[in-house]
Amino acid sequence: MSSNNVDTHEKLFRIASIPGDGIGTEVTEAAIQVLQKLAEVDGTFHFEFEHFDWSSKNFKERGYYIPLDGIDQLKKFNAILFGAVGSPDVPDHISLWGLMLPLRNSLTQYVNVRPTRILRGTSSPLRPEVCGPKDLDWVIIRENSEGEYSGHGGTTHAASGNAVATEVSIFTQVGIERIMRFAFDTAMLRPRKKLTMVTKSNAQRHGMVLWDQIFHEVKKDYPDVETDKMLVDAMTVRMTLKPQTLDTIVATNLHADILSDLAAALSGSIGIAPSSNLDPTRKHPSMFEPIHGSAPDIMGKGIANPVGAFWSAAEMVRWLGMEEVADKLMQCIENVTEAGPRTKDLGGSANTKEVTEAVCREIEKQLKR
Ligand code: NAI
Ligand code: MG
Repeated sequence: MSSNNVDTHEKLFRIASIPGDGIGTEVTEAAIQVLQKLAEVDGTFHFEFEHFDWSSKNFKERGYYIPLDGIDQLKKFNAILFGAVGSPDVPDHISLWGLMLPLRNSLTQYVNVRPTRILRGTSSPLRPEVCGPKDLDWVIIRENSEGEYSGHGGTTHAASGNAVATEVSIFTQVGIERIMRFAFDTAMLRPRKKLTMVTKSNAQRHGMVLWDQIFHEVKKDYPDVETDKMLVDAMTVRMTLKPQTLDTIVATNLHADILSDLAAALSGSIGIAPSSNLDPTRKHPSMFEPIHGSAPDIMGKGIANPVGAFWSAAEMVRWLGMEEVADKLMQCIENVTEAGPRTKDLGGSANTKEVTEAVCREIEKQLKR
């Protein structure tokens, strides 16, 4: 049995927490408080957290984010809770390639799932006639291991004053097929059974054409799923003007990264959007994190919206096999987005602590046996 399979007899879940930088640390602390409350009140399981301080501050002192045995240490956990990485005094490509991307790659988390909907009590910036409260309910399936973020490329001739840089996108048959199958499986489990494939195969005639071809091949195995195809530029228009026509969406690493920030903004705030970095084979632990970054502009003020981290925590609970508990946690979170307190990005004036305590109180109210 692999080490991250769950021992359902004991119901002890060992969780690695990697808070990272900036508001990543603030929202991760809040999410842990909520998860501990959930376990305490439910009483049928508990969490044991171990914290890994792989921050940019440590990177500057030691010269690395992840220690040599870091990935092996993580493999012993049932799941990972991640905050965000990024610090104004470390170039972003160094921090992302020092921490975030090696984690996703080494733990074969080749799927990134990004659900978006308008939580109760929040509203879309779109006009009500374009987007009612139920008109935006999407799951974006992001390819998480290759494509534009493969890390292949280089820079030469810099000294000549005419630098040459390449950034090579890599698309593999195996990589495309596995993400397509995951997307179709996801669509099958949703009421509308609808999948939109995003591409840019008009201008990009190799990798993106292979992406299209494999989509059409895999589609044959899922006759019940209604499909369509969008070029990524036109997709931004459709998301904004006809949100109700979309359901499950599959896109490349870069395209889905961009589209999911747009999705978060259209659903009310980047501060509420969750993500799950999954190894669907369950050989390695999966990792759960809000989609936002370290937000240096608000760090240290205690005002970050923790809802994206809470929703990510709920997705972790779901992945650990506790569907019902995850649904209850989501209800508690939405009771708070509906009744308040809310942070500034959702039109309120509450701080992180007030929202966290409100969700904890809600858990006590709703889950007490
Ligand atoms: P960001 O998501 O950190 O911030 C964008 C804007 O949204 C800021 O105005 C911020 O205050 C606001 N915001 C984000 N999360 C919020 C929350 N929970 N509550 C309230 N407001 C929130 O994106 P940005 O500014 O592009 O990147 C900042 C740093 O984070 C960079 O170093 C970047 O590389 C890194 N980053 C890391 C990610 C990760 O670790 N997965 C993802 C995205 C960015
Ligand atoms: Mg992003």
